[in-house]
Amino acid sequence: MTVNANSFLFGVATSAYQIEGATKEDGRGPSIWDAFAQRKGTIRDGSTGEPACDHYRRWREDLALMKELGIGAYRFSIAWPRVLPEGKGRVNPKGLAFYDRLVDGLLEAGITPFITLYHWDLPLALEQRGGWRSRETAYAFAQYAELVARSLGDRVPFFATLNEPWCSAFLGHFTGEHAPGLRNLEAALRSAHHLLLAHGLAVKALRASGARQVGIVLNFTHVEGEDREAVARTDAYHNRFFLDPLLGSGYPQGIFLGEHPMPIQPGDMEIIAAPIDFLGVNYYTRARVAPGEGLYPVRYLPPKGATTSMGWEVYPEGLYLLLRRLSQATPWPLYVTENGAAYPDRWRGEEVVEDPERVAYLQAHLEATLKARREGGDIRGYFVWSLLDNFEWAQGYTQRFGLFYVDYPSQRRIPKRSALWYQKRIAEITADP
Ligand code: NOJ
Repeated sequence: MTVNANSFLFGVATSAYQIEGATKEDGRGPSIWDAFAQRKGTIRDGSTGEPACDHYRRWREDLALMKELGIGAYRFSIAWPRVLPEGKGRVNPKGLAFYDRLVDGLLEAGITPFITLYHWDLPLALEQRGGWRSRETAYAFAQYAELVARSLGDRVPFFATLNEPWCSAFLGHFTGEHAPGLRNLEAALRSAHHLLLAHGLAVKALRASGARQVGIVLNFTHVEGEDREAVARTDAYHNRFFLDPLLGSGYPQGIFLGEHPMPIQPGDMEIIAAPIDFLGVNYYTRARVAPGEGLYPVRYLPPKGATTSMGWEVYPEGLYLLLRRLSQATPWPLYVTENGAAYPDRWRGEEVVEDPERVAYLQAHLEATLKARREGGDIRGYFVWSLLDNFEWAQGYTQRFGLFYVDYPSQRRIPKRSALWYQKRIAEITADP
């Protein structure tokens, strides 16, 4: 398989709260994740995003790792509360300056910056005014997007508005596993709509402020099962809830028993369906389902094959099928904006941490991506989650997704075999375009 190096981006991905640390540094305001992680019982190991990978101070070292890998692009997120400590109004120049330096450093290294504007760290001040349950947050997001595009848009070709809004809405407000930790379906549905509205308003604001390629990153799972209704319901919930409105088809109906109306105002659905330039696809595993009971009558069946330490089944075929489906069902170029696996890596002082399962996982999923591309899918990039082991949300530091192992006590980064594998694979493919 040959891939034209110029048209296919190989990258790695991270997010601000998961790696930066320095949560009180240089005027950063608090986010919902700072507050959530401080609550007892929310994070598996009782940890928080402090100090995470201390990336805020060590970003030069991390940039050197990226250079060594030979990646063409780096997907990272901006911490909204770093640049607008209260979510809106007063700008924190030191926060903006951090990303400015990072972007310049990336460009000097020949690495394309790929920015995510919202990777879950909502400024706490906005949460106190109703968070995503409030329509006001969507307007605040558009202003924040405009500010970032004004400051970085001349040098950053890719802006993704939201990362996995499904997680923000449903894990944050329905299951309570993520910040802000609510368990209320109506709150989740309101949030979902306001997240999409925020996206649509931001698309307009970004374009007006000089951003070139604007898109969104959604999480998808390939769904299988014998019962057609259970499969359709799961697919609508996990895959179509955000995708359909972006395509202009409105919200899928009939997922929950006893639905709450969405807080749609005239014109919203047109704003949400504003044309975009790419779709980011995050894929980790499949779901096998059967009929169940309750509000959302679906039962998730146990994984069939090998699993990662998150308990997620390794199923690369699902990525191929998903990319094929999205190539047909959407008009947009696709980027695999996240794919990766957590395993219980151990470091005992070696130069390289052996992680054969991750190498196999990444290899199979990259091949699945390239196969879908070979068959005509407009797939333009693949980003490994993640550059570094980091703060895995409710799982704290118990899950390691990195190509580089992080020894948290010393903050040393040690390459895993998968980093060397990725470096070699990128070199092979780009040498033979
Ligand atoms: C999706 C999220 O975007 C990212 O933050 C998370 O760490 C990975 N998946 C792994 O769960």
